[in-house]
Parts: sequence; C-alpha cells; structure tokens
Amino acid sequence: MRDYGYSEEGHQGSLSDFGLWKRVLRFSAPYKAGLIAAVFISFIITASTLTLPHLVQTAIDSYITVEHLERALRMAGLSHIALQYGLLVVAVFFATFIQILILEWVGQSVMHTVRQRLFTTILNLDLTFFNSNPTGRLVTRLTNDIQNMNEMFTSVIVTLFNDLLRLAGILLLLFYMNPRLAGVMTLFMPVALVITIIFAKFARERFREIRTKLAKINSYLSETLAGISILQIFNRQAECKETFESLTGEYLQKTLKQIKLFGTFMPLTEFLSSAAVALILWYGGGEILQKRLTLGELVAFISYMRLFFQPLRELSQKYSVVQSAMASAERIFQLLDKKSAIQETPLATELHNPEGRLDFQNIHFSYTPDSQILSDVSFSLEPGQTVALVGTTGSGKTTLVNLLLRFYEPQHGNILIDGHNIKDLSLKNLRQVVGVILQDVFLLQDTLLANIVMETGCNRQKVEEILKQTGIDRFTNKLPQGLDTLIGEGGMTLSTGEKQLLAFARVLCRDPAILILDEATAAIDTESENILETAIADSFKNRTSLVIAHRLSTIRRANHIVVMRQGKIVESGTHDELLAQNGHYALLVAMDLENDQSTNDVTAPAVETLR
Ligand SMILES: Nc1ncnc2c1ncn2[C@@H]1O[C@H](COP(=O)(O)OP(=O)(O)OP(=O)(O)O)[C@@H](O)[C@H]1O
Ligand SMILES: [Mg+2]
Repeated sequence: MRDYGYSEEGHQGSLSDFGLWKRVLRFSAPYKAGLIAAVFISFIITASTLTLPHLVQTAIDSYITVEHLERALRMAGLSHIALQYGLLVVAVFFATFIQILILEWVGQSVMHTVRQRLFTTILNLDLTFFNSNPTGRLVTRLTNDIQNMNEMFTSVIVTLFNDLLRLAGILLLLFYMNPRLAGVMTLFMPVALVITIIFAKFARERFREIRTKLAKINSYLSETLAGISILQIFNRQAECKETFESLTGEYLQKTLKQIKLFGTFMPLTEFLSSAAVALILWYGGGEILQKRLTLGELVAFISYMRLFFQPLRELSQKYSVVQSAMASAERIFQLLDKKSAIQETPLATELHNPEGRLDFQNIHFSYTPDSQILSDVSFSLEPGQTVALVGTTGSGKTTLVNLLLRFYEPQHGNILIDGHNIKDLSLKNLRQVVGVILQDVFLLQDTLLANIVMETGCNRQKVEEILKQTGIDRFTNKLPQGLDTLIGEGGMTLSTGEKQLLAFARVLCRDPAILILDEATAAIDTESENILETAIADSFKNRTSLVIAHRLSTIRRANHIVVMRQGKIVESGTHDELLAQNGHYALLVAMDLENDQSTNDVTAPAVETLR
C-alpha cells in the first residue's frame, strides 16, 4: 500500500533541542508574567502538599500518643491541626485551579498566534510546495500539531517542573527526618528508575507507531472523501472498505499493544511503591520499638513515600507527551520557516494603465527535473491583439499561463509585459494587470454577487452594468434571487457553462489590460454557449487576449493562432494560412470536424491520434 508520505509523522522530537525550546519560549514572551506566576504557584503547591504529612506527624506525636497532656488540651491541639490541614487543602485546590487557568490561557494564546502565522505562511507559498505537500498533511499541521504543541505549556513546562520540585523536596525531607530510613528507601530508587526508563523507551516507540497509523487513516479518509463520486462511478466501495479496514485494523493492534504496555507498567509501579511501604513498615516498626523513631514520623514517612512514587509514575507518561509536543513544534517551525520559491524583488515596479504588450521569450520549463514540459517557446501579443493557443491535451498550454501568473518560475527565458520583466513587478500588480479565466472555476460559498465582486469592492451597479453589456444578465436574470442567489454548498449548483459565465463577469469587474482565457474542455449547454459567445466577443474588444481555445468559433475570432505540440510551438499564423499549410493545425481541425461537429472542440477528440 502507498505510504502517503507520512513517515514524517513518526519523526521524534529531541528533548535536548535547546534551539526549539528557545523558540517556543520566544512565542510565549508576551505571556512571561503568566508563566512566572505559574512557576511561583508551583512552589506554593509543593510547599503546601509537603506540609500535610508533617501535620499528621505532629498530630500523632504531640497530641494522640502523648499520655501526660490533659485531654481537653489534646483535643484543642488536634482541632487546631485539623483546621490547618483543611486550610492547606483549600489553598492547594485554589492554587492548582489558578495555575491551570494561567497555563491554558498562555498555551491557547500562543497557539492562536502560531496557527495564524502558519496559515499566513501557507497562503503565500508557491504551487511547487503544494504539489509535494498533500492537503491532509497541512491540515494535520494546523490542527493536531498545534494541539500537541499546546501540551508543551499545560503538561510540560510547568507540570514537569511541579513534579521535579516535589521529588527533590521529598528526598530532602526524608533524609532530614531520618537518614537511615531514607537510606533503606533509596534501595528502591535504582529499580524504579530502570523500570521508568525502559517504559519510557517502549512507550515512545508505541506512541510513534500509533501516530503514524493515525496520520495514514486521516490522509486516506480525506483522499477518499474528496474523490467519492469517482469511487462510486467505478464501484470501488468494497476495495475502499477493505483498505480502510486494514488501516484501522493496524491502528487497533498498535493501540492494544500500547494499552498492554501501560497495563503492565502502572501496576508495576504500584507494586514497587507498596513493597517499599512494606519494607519501611518492617524496618521503621523496629526502629519505633527501639525508640529511635516516633509513630508520627513513621506515618509521615510513609505518606511522603506515596507522594514520591506518584510523580515518578506520571513522569514516564509525560515523557512521551513531551516527545510528541517537541516533534510537533519542530514540524510547525519547519513550515513557518518555508519561504516561497517565488519572491518579489525589493523594488518592485507597478504598471499603471499598461498598454498590454506581452512577450514570451525562449521559455524553457519543467515541473520536475526529469521531464521537459516547455522548450524554447517564444511569441508575442501586440496591445489589443487576440491570440489563440491551440494544441493537444498536455502540450503545455496551461503551464504557459501558470508561468505568466508566476505560479512557477521558468528555468530559462523571460516573460515581458510592456517591456517589463514580470519578475520586476509586484505579484499583486501582475495579477491585476493579467486577468484569468481558468478551466476550473473556484466558487465561494456566497451569493453570486459576492462571487463576482470578491476583493475588488466593485459596487452592485457596476456589476449590473458589466453583466448587461456582455449579455451575461440573460443568465443571472433567470436565477431565483438574481445576483443574491446563494452559490455552492447549500445553495445553487452551477453548470460548467454557467461557471464560465460567472468567471467572465468576475474578471471583467477587474478590467485587466491582458485577458487570459483557458476555455473549458467540457461541452457547454447551448444556452450558456450563446451567452458565452457574446461575452467572449465583448471581453476581447480593446484588450490583449490570449485564449487557450478549444472551440472553433473562439479560434476563428483570433487575429493570430499559435499551435503547440509537446511543449514546442510548431506552427503559427491565421486560420486560413494554417489551413493552407496543411500541417498540424489542419489535422486538428479536420479530425475535430470528423469527430463531432456540434461541440466544436478542436483539441480534445484529437488526443488519441496525435499523442
Ligand atoms: N503541477 C504539475 N506537476 C508536474 N507536472 C505537471 C503539473 N501540471 C501539469 N503537468 C504536466 O505538464 C504537461 C502539460 O500540462 P498542461 O496542463 O500545461 O497541458 P495543457 O496543454 O493545458 O492540456 P489541456 O488541453 O488538457 O488543458 C502535462 O504532461 C502534465 O502532466
Ligand atoms: Mg490546460
């Protein structure tokens, strides 16, 4: 089965990567006060928790087991201690509550910033990046990874500190109280340590496996759902079910393995802690008999031991959480550091009211190093001229448009607008000067008007004017709520032809000097076709237009035709000239007429024969 490129998800973060810690902390710099407060509260919590066994000890030794004091005095002392105990417990409760609030606030705020930055970075990356990074993976970065990184704040930075503080505090106290007894207890320390380390190692491995499996499930799911209609057409439900079954089966296996591991480790630490208590009970009891230890001291000692084993058990679990948080942080930072391969020059020029001259000069281009897509493509469009680009499917027509819009950079050659290299224009300006109508029309889930206006801020009146002028209003007037009709999910679904009409209105709203039209290959219903004809004719007027044409009617309208084949220009001229040459173009036209006269699609049917 395919790996879905998710081996990366198994990547381990290193705890000792100080650069990473520094960066995480830099993000939390605005919340420094909060973090310092949280650390301070840690001291309060630890001190209070560690005082509790001491209070029990005082209660036993000073009031319960002493015979010579008056009963009333003993009761008063006990009440006093009980009150102190109660107050401390309440203090711990509130301190913990406030600490959690602070940590969640810091964590969530930092994640908010990171999420925002990450999204902005992704928005501006070049298309080559998206070709090699599936959507599923990027979604994981913005959701799971951010969530994991949040753990850095809640579980790691302070809780870990809490635990270590407590462990150190208890050890000190125990040795201070009774060094011999503490010495006996430390016999257990190496065993506990070894078990913890072994567990952490296995847990890390299990954890990594589970995460990789989950990433695969997510990616398979998004892929399946995106292509659901194709799956249903080809009746692939059964295969999909099987693949999913095997993916989730593996996930289940790994999860069960992890549960088994935890199931062994948890009782083991419990066993160890109880065995230590038994030993201390035996040894400490002997000490009491020899009057070298008081009962209160023994009880306190046992309480401290219990408190000692608890964080030890949690530490090993937290270790894997830290690991995954570090790995997530590392992946997030890697993505944050990505720079788009397409950069604007620092002193970008802006073209205002361009004439619309367009030159392609010796363009060589390949998406990947091993396949040449365009070789030495050169041609020019005079201001106001309409040029049709014709060629079999895959000959590189859309690629040329991608280069013009600077979605990719040619390896060799230049594209000029009014004599300016497009590399010297700001991307914003370039994409204002060049208006494009692509084969796939992207729709917002909004009203038709919003879909046409988008970022331009064009008012309704202007839009209506454009629609009327181009005849597209014949389509919009028929819609139930006209321009206010909702499009997309939950609203109206548009046909290919209708989408093209919308795209025309959209691009004319921007009134670009250069218009690029990548005609839809799918056959368009006759009604839209008629409206489209007028819209096309009107849009080409007074504008430099480059049309990747599939329909004879559009091609005929062009002043000049450029014929492409396998990434090269093979012929150019007017319709009549090219027909007279009786070359590739004549063949394309002839085959189209032979195949299907009604669709007028010159390129698509010719694919089989010409490839
Ligand atoms: N993002 C990409 N990464 C790698 N190769 C690509 C990419 N996009 C297109 N190609 C390849 O580049 C070649 C030219 O594709 P292009 O989309 O330019 O063809 P086209 O002439 O527009 O075809 P059509 O008439 O079907 O739209 C094809 O062989 C295609 O496989
Ligand atoms: Mg194309």
